Amino acid sequence: MINKTIDESKQGEVLNLRPSKKFNLTKKMYLESYGCAMNFSDSEIVASILKKEGYATTKKIESADIVLINTCSIREKAEQTIRKRLKDFQKVKSNKPTLTIGILGCMAERLKTKFLEEEKIVDLVVGPDSYRELPQLIKEIEDGRKAVNVILSTEETYADIVPVRLGNNKVTAFISIMRGCDNMCSFCVVPFTRGRERSRDPISIINEIETVYKNGYKEVTLLGQNVDSYLWNNNLNKKAIKKLSSKQKEKSVNFAKLLELVAENCPNIRVRFSTSHPQDMSDQVLHTMAKYKNICKYIHLPVQSGSSRILKLMNRGYSREWYIERIDSIKKIIPDCGISMDIITGFCSETDEDHKLTLSLMDYVKYDFGYMFKYSVRPNTLAQRKYKDDIDERVKSKRLTEIINLQQKHSLHNNKKNVGKIKEVLVEGYSKKSNEQLFGRTTQNTVVVFPKENIKIGEFVKIKINSCTSATLIGKKC
Ligand code: SAH
Ligand code: SF4
Ligand code: F3S
Repeated sequence: MINKTIDESKQGEVLNLRPSKKFNLTKKMYLESYGCAMNFSDSEIVASILKKEGYATTKKIESADIVLINTCSIREKAEQTIRKRLKDFQKVKSNKPTLTIGILGCMAERLKTKFLEEEKIVDLVVGPDSYRELPQLIKEIEDGRKAVNVILSTEETYADIVPVRLGNNKVTAFISIMRGCDNMCSFCVVPFTRGRERSRDPISIINEIETVYKNGYKEVTLLGQNVDSYLWNNNLNKKAIKKLSSKQKEKSVNFAKLLELVAENCPNIRVRFSTSHPQDMSDQVLHTMAKYKNICKYIHLPVQSGSSRILKLMNRGYSREWYIERIDSIKKIIPDCGISMDIITGFCSETDEDHKLTLSLMDYVKYDFGYMFKYSVRPNTLAQRKYKDDIDERVKSKRLTEIINLQQKHSLHNNKKNVGKIKEVLVEGYSKKSNEQLFGRTTQNTVVVFPKENIKIGEFVKIKINSCTSATLIGKKC
């Protein structure tokens, strides 16, 4: 999960433009992003759209003309965090009444005009498919009105917009390859906030990767809610492609083909992707990963639960056995693959037996790491409408703790296996603890920390691993 304040200072260099010469940047925007990588990537699109309107980004709220908060609705807590943050902005606005405050992203889409009623300081509410309308909406505010646009699209992919890179390093970049989700997992708000699934033109994807490579980036992460259902055909929409025979489908670009295209056309850049869905992850994708050295050997494969009964209630489209078969396939085709997961504890009607099945599945897979959550009811989802949120909060917490503890044990166990080995690491930046130490990631996505010596950020280095914690490998250049 990402929560970043966006920094203007690096953009000009990254894009190799002098913003003040190319655009007349007379106004300032302050952007804050919450939620998943998709939101972070969208903020880069928003920055690009508003840059053309004369807005530079700033890190200082006090100097901003507009504050934009790109919000997340995935759990109730995520929404509460934003509501609290609005109180801080309230203070800034009381000193500067001309300040425009805008809500973007999933909360904007979920709450729509209700947001304006509930949070009086908000002037602007814009959903994820309406960012092109931002300049027009801002004009409405300048004319003294409040502005809302939350229309979801079946086509918008922002394929033609060159994002302004706002990340903290100039090494790794997010590349959005699709938007929306058609899966309708019963607990999940995303299909309501992001709309129907649509894939982006592969040529525009490759062009964007080539551009970031030219600007010095060394790694890209291809983003989608379910990358395995990526499907592109130049002439047809997704519904029409799905109806094609398998022979005709070969002319379309699926995710395995997209990976291959990226790996071959951009051989010097390291490629990751997120998120894979167990229902759709094919052996074709695994073979493509195994074939190309520049595709990282790492898969984030959220399981949510180890109980087939719960998976059915969650409408995940697979069973425990199916998931295990997918894991076996990964381990067979890519023996050194890093694997991580998401798990939800305390979903409606989850028994101790179901919980034990989740623990036993974790024992079977031995994930390298994971993101674990307590179930949080989301308005209008199938689970909210049909099932009872009947697991006591204390039971949810207890199960979550057990899962986190088990995962820590597995992470440590897996990391220990690397001690004594030499790993190739892409250096991303300074370690959190010291400016004498750098950090980077292995192809398996494990974080490695090592002394700086004469190593530069953005380099690939060979690190001898000497020790580890459950979260980090510790080593030295060899
Ligand atoms: N598209 C991805 C997940 C995106 S949301 C996938 O299907 O794998 C990221 C994670 O948030 C999910 O994998 C799930 O573990 C968690 N999540 C989603 N809705 C939730 C809810 N209502 N309560 C708790 N966790 C939730
Ligand atoms: Fe949500 Fe399921 Fe879509 Fe993931 S696949 S975004 S969990 S509906
Ligand atoms: Fe949150 Fe929306 Fe992403 S709900 S997790 S920001 S798609």
